[in-house]
Formats: sequence, structure tokens, C-alpha cells
Amino acid sequence: MKSLFSLIIVLIMSFIPHSQGFILPELPTDNGDGFIVIAHRGASAYAPENTLSSFRLAVEMKAEMMELDVSLSKDGIPVVIHDETVNRTTDANGAVSDFTVDELKVLETGAWFSEDFAGEPFPTLKEVLSEVKGEIAVNIEIKSEAVKNTAEGGIVEKCLQIVRTLGIEKNIIFSSFDYRVMDHLNELAPDLPKAILYEESQSGNLLPSELVKKYKVDAFNFSHRQFSQEWEDDLKVHGIPFFIYTVNEEKLMKELIERGATGIFSDKPDVLKSVVENL
Ligand code: G3P
Ligand code: CA
Repeated sequence: MKSLFSLIIVLIMSFIPHSQGFILPELPTDNGDGFIVIAHRGASAYAPENTLSSFRLAVEMKAEMMELDVSLSKDGIPVVIHDETVNRTTDANGAVSDFTVDELKVLETGAWFSEDFAGEPFPTLKEVLSEVKGEIAVNIEIKSEAVKNTAEGGIVEKCLQIVRTLGIEKNIIFSSFDYRVMDHLNELAPDLPKAILYEESQSGNLLPSELVKKYKVDAFNFSHRQFSQEWEDDLKVHGIPFFIYTVNEEKLMKELIERGATGIFSDKPDVLKSVVENL
């Protein structure tokens, strides 16, 4: 009789959404509605992505978080750029890792987007975080190409050092498509929020909740194209925060908010804000 009672309790519990103490960053611009508006690479529909201009605009638009991508220069400085090469977003060609930070600094980083942004400086992580310190939460995405097998002296350690020097730990969440980053963060900063960006080849057949448990992360991030009913049920049953990228269409924003997204990455944080406010 007692074991039947226990079985019923377990079954009931498995259908009740519950939180496992996931930690998310504090949001200086929180509007209190429980949903997080994230400026993807800054307000990157209106200014060149991953630049001080796009991040300033994200702050002005009162996005609640901004996302940026970090790689390493040839001399090991964390720099803010999405691609493995500088080809698309500067006037030069070559791998980011083949340029020293001084060589990156002289590249034209804004004119590819619009002549209005000509002369935009190529930003380091330290410059960006110093600029927005205390004004907005930041999702630091670590690019796979800069990750090594061991944590010591690597990109995660270097980023953590900058975050700690600036004293902004409470406003930061790390993420990566490279699951080694989760291990490095668990080793170097187990208490800082981190999100796993779903990557098929490293995931096997594991469900979001199994990946979240395996890598001890606080959130599950994925493309809106990957959002199945199975994932939705699994995430909700386990009370896991989930963030969806990259959404610029109002109709899709509404649909994903209704399906329970904790936050959405958008190049147009102003549009996402107005959708949320007018639901
Ligand atoms: O972190 C969310 C999103 O930025 C991941 O995709 O390619 O824009 O880095 P990507
Ligand atoms: Ca990104």
C-alpha cells in the first residue's frame, strides 16, 4: 500500500513543473514581466553587429539582456566578433586568430553595414563590458574555434578574469555551442549562470533536461527551428529556463512567448519589447 502511494506521488511530481534552482543573471533593465528581451549581437538590425554602437543602442532600447560573441586574438585577448574570420564584418580577410589585437583595432568594422558607421572600432570584451557595466545583463557566447581541451589559461578563464575585475558577475550568463565550455565553467566558476546552446553532434539522443543535468547548466538555448513538442514538454516538466534564437518576426515572437520561452534573442529588441508589452 505504502509503495503504491509512493508511486502515485512520483507520477504526480513528474507532471508538475518544478525548478531545480537554476540561476539566471540579475537584469538591471528588468520590466518585471518574467520574460527576457535579448538584443542579439546588440541591436544588430540597426547598427553593425557586435560593436559598441549596437550595444549602446540595445541599452537605449531597454533590452533586458544583450548577447555577444567572443573569440581570441593571436595574442590571446578576448575580442568580440561572431565569425571565425574577419571577412564578413571588416575590410580585411583572414582568421581572427591570425590578427593581434593591435592589428584588429585598425580594421574598418562599421562601413560593411553602412557608411554611417564608418570608423566603428573593433571591440575587445573588456571595452564592451566596461561600456555597459551595470546597465544591462550580458550573455557572453564563447566561440568554439577559441576553445581548447583544458580550462587553464583558455578563453573561459580569460573572460572570467575580465568579468571578475569589473565586478559584474551577477549580470552575466555564459553560453556556448561547444560543450567543453560547460566543463570549464563548472571547474572555474561553478556558481555563475551558464546556458548550453544545443549542438546535435555532441548531444546524442539526449533530451534538453538530460543535457541540462549532464552539463549542470541553468538554461537551454536553441533555434526556433528546433523547437519540437517533445522539447517543449520536457523543458516545462523540468522547469528549465529556455532561450530561443534568432527571431525578428512579430508573429513568431508571439507564438514562442505563448509556448513559454523564458527569453528570445532578436536583432530588433525594440520590436520584441513592443510585442511583449502588447500581448
Ligand atoms: O546565442 C544565441 C545565438 O546567437 C546563437 O547563434 O550563430 O548567432 O551565434 P549565433
Ligand atoms: Ca551568438
